[in-house]
Amino acid sequence: MTIDNDVYDRLGTSWWDDHSPLVLLHGSMTTGRLEYFRGVLDRLGRLPAGNETPTALDIGSGGGFLAEEFARLGFAVTGVDPSEVSVQTARDHARAGGLDIDYRTGVGERLPVRDAAFDVAYCSDVLEHVTDVDAVLAETSRVLRPGGVCLFDTPNRTLTSKLATAMTQRWRLTRVVDFAAHDWTMFLTPAELVGRMRMQGMVVQETVGLGPRAGWTTMGASLLRLRRGRFTYRQVSDRFDMGQTRNRSLFTMGFALNVG
Ligand SMILES: C[S@@+](CC[C@H](N)C(=O)[O-])C[C@H]1O[C@@H](n2cnc3c(N)ncnc32)[C@H](O)[C@@H]1O
Repeated sequence: MTIDNDVYDRLGTSWWDDHSPLVLLHGSMTTGRLEYFRGVLDRLGRLPAGNETPTALDIGSGGGFLAEEFARLGFAVTGVDPSEVSVQTARDHARAGGLDIDYRTGVGERLPVRDAAFDVAYCSDVLEHVTDVDAVLAETSRVLRPGGVCLFDTPNRTLTSKLATAMTQRWRLTRVVDFAAHDWTMFLTPAELVGRMRMQGMVVQETVGLGPRAGWTTMGASLLRLRRGRFTYRQVSDRFDMGQTRNRSLFTMGFALNVG
């Protein structure tokens, strides 16, 4: 199933609408990813402190879910995304919330930012969407300062994720989105991530699992309610309680240091 990246233009005004399928990335997904990323930066002593305003680049910023969280942590955030509609939505939402975030239209393969400008860069649910992963990683390394931190999360290519992809977007009786959100063949295993990042000048320090922490009954009931129109996508995301897990079969999260 060919990935449908045009959906970010078609649905791009609805990122912050609880009834939009794009909101599956918000709710517990934003909280769970942020909890891990924040913990990593804390361990490394890279969270904003005192009068410092470190810089962060959100590659594939979508509606700005994580960009806004990083701005609230005290980073000077730049967000880059190819979808003009999404960029405008993210810009409007940040402005309405009084957040100063520099959003730019562009692709990860050719980031519209200067060399070594960022202390932190993150690719959250983006590497499985891009046409040239190695070019995105090379660009990430280029724009990070030496020793800068690259945070990432992306689906793992396993039989479990193949089944989950088919269930959620393909099979008529179980699907929860009516577009090709993902193409399983574009997923990366943790070993591939480590190798390909190393080739582009970034050394992975850790990989962990990301997945639902809710039980099967809760997840099944939430999906059934969604299909019956009794739950919003936001409620489903919250009920799944996404976050760091020991199980790595669905998503990988991790971080790397830029060695240039
Ligand atoms: C699943 S969304 C993730 C959005 C956001 N990172 C989040 O987690 O909330 C994937 C995003 O990647 C963007 N994208 C697609 N191709 C890209 C590319 N070549 N470079 C950068 N971003 C890309 C899409 O426009 C979309 O906003």
